[in-house]
Amino acid sequence: MTTSALLERLRALVGDAGLVTDPGQLAGYLSDWRGAYSGSAAAVVRPGTTEEVAEVVRACAEEGVAVVPQGGNTGLCGGAVPDASGRQVVVSLDRMRRVRAVDPVDQTITVEAGVVLQAVQEAAAAEGCLFPLSLGSEGSCTIGGNLSTNAGGTAVLRYGTMRDLTLGLEVVLPDGRVWNGLRGLRKDNTGYDLKQLFIGAEGTLGLVTAAVLKLFPAVRSRATAWVAVGSAQAAVDLFGIVRGLCSDRLTGFEIMSRQSVEFVLRHGSGARDLFGAVHPWYVLVELSDTLPDAGLDGLLEFVLGGAFERGVADDAVVASGSAQVAALRALREGISEAQNFEGPSLKHDVTVPVSSIPAFVERTDAALRAAVPGIRIVAYGHVGDGNLHYNLSKPVHSDDDAFRQRADELARVVYDSTSSFGGSISAEHGLGQSKRDVIADYKDDLELELMRGVKQLLDPRGLMNPGKVLPG
Ligand code: FAD
Ligand code: MLT
Ligand code: ZN
Repeated sequence: MTTSALLERLRALVGDAGLVTDPGQLAGYLSDWRGAYSGSAAAVVRPGTTEEVAEVVRACAEEGVAVVPQGGNTGLCGGAVPDASGRQVVVSLDRMRRVRAVDPVDQTITVEAGVVLQAVQEAAAAEGCLFPLSLGSEGSCTIGGNLSTNAGGTAVLRYGTMRDLTLGLEVVLPDGRVWNGLRGLRKDNTGYDLKQLFIGAEGTLGLVTAAVLKLFPAVRSRATAWVAVGSAQAAVDLFGIVRGLCSDRLTGFEIMSRQSVEFVLRHGSGARDLFGAVHPWYVLVELSDTLPDAGLDGLLEFVLGGAFERGVADDAVVASGSAQVAALRALREGISEAQNFEGPSLKHDVTVPVSSIPAFVERTDAALRAAVPGIRIVAYGHVGDGNLHYNLSKPVHSDDDAFRQRADELARVVYDSTSSFGGSISAEHGLGQSKRDVIADYKDDLELELMRGVKQLLDPRGLMNPGKVLPG
């Protein structure tokens, strides 16, 4: 069958509204949020139901055409972007946005894969519950993308990643069969936990169409502080102190280097420095509780007072009122966007044991500064999870392309250092196309062999998001 015959078959399945071939409309689906990756496609298909997804995938499989699943297209590794051949079909879930059920008794929510994360949070809140996943991209990213990247974000410390938040899945397999694993059970020991295979698979094993997710009791009080610390070691020490005293009330513990904050102060609208002096590192601490008046501000002040006495914290502000909380969060969440104004941003999303963060930073900073004098290291992230976004910007007044050309070499420096601490080169963003080859040098051969075996079992013809995750 020719491409145009396949497109007519797809049109018959999803209707005119579900098939995009017009170049102007296609453009938004063919490159990622940052413009770092772009490709071409025969069409974008937008099915409205699980049955339509299954029919579309079956039609493509019968014609030997590869499928690229796409959600909100906010991914940072090029996983949702098609290759340059123009033969692949992008399947966007952006018409599958139904919240199927919210159950406050079972504490579950059942949603279609195209529902935007923020809409899931709102649907849970409307029933007095909390869906805790929280990312800077939550206004655009979708549950299908969150599942497929095993998204993390700022509340992992308390609630875990998407793997921990998922009870059941519905998945269209690469041959078009539908696996209905939409169970909301808290316990189910009937063999292999298949849903975990699809979580974090970045669309290479099947297309997720719906999920049953865990809910939690609504949070009724919060306290937020912005703390200046003198070193990464002090940040880790502060983490130990806050966690020791606040336990599960500690919801977020985010670190930012001065360089990261400076970018937001320069480019973020309305952003302002909180302290008179400049400090090398800052920490955003968030406590939360289900009680309406849990005295969290007082607790946070008490904990920070102890940290001052021990010389761990240098300055701090406990936010008063929602406007100040929003301003503090914006200083953290604005980093990713602000960095884009400073030329190419070489992103590395690494994790090491929390206790190794100070030595990792010291050793990696030194190696990078030796390689590129004047390099601007934009290190920030979820330090309570051992996860640093260890991003790099070019020296001031230097050439964009010359810096971009050194991306692989500089990534090696970061990844070799990560590996020497027993870390991982992808903490939460995935491998996509950006790290699919380099992972071969940092992952055990047996693990890669087992991963290839799983791929072969589920997708023997290699038609589900080829060129992603597995080394070529
Ligand atoms: P997409 O980008 O569309 O796709 C991501 C991958 O999942 C691709 O491989 C795609 O093929 C696959 N996929 C998408 N939908 C499906 C489906 N239904 N079935 C099968 N495969 C599918 N990530 C974090 O983990 N933590 C953060 O704190 C964080 N902060 C961010 C902040 C900003 C400002 C931005 C831009 C991104 C951030 N991200 C973060 C990255 C990104 O938002 C997440 O990876 C998110 O989970 C991607 O969701 P998406 O719907 O946009 O997926
Ligand atoms: C974040 O935590 O802000 C993102 O995961 C990092 C990024 O956008 O690089
Ligand atoms: Zn992150």
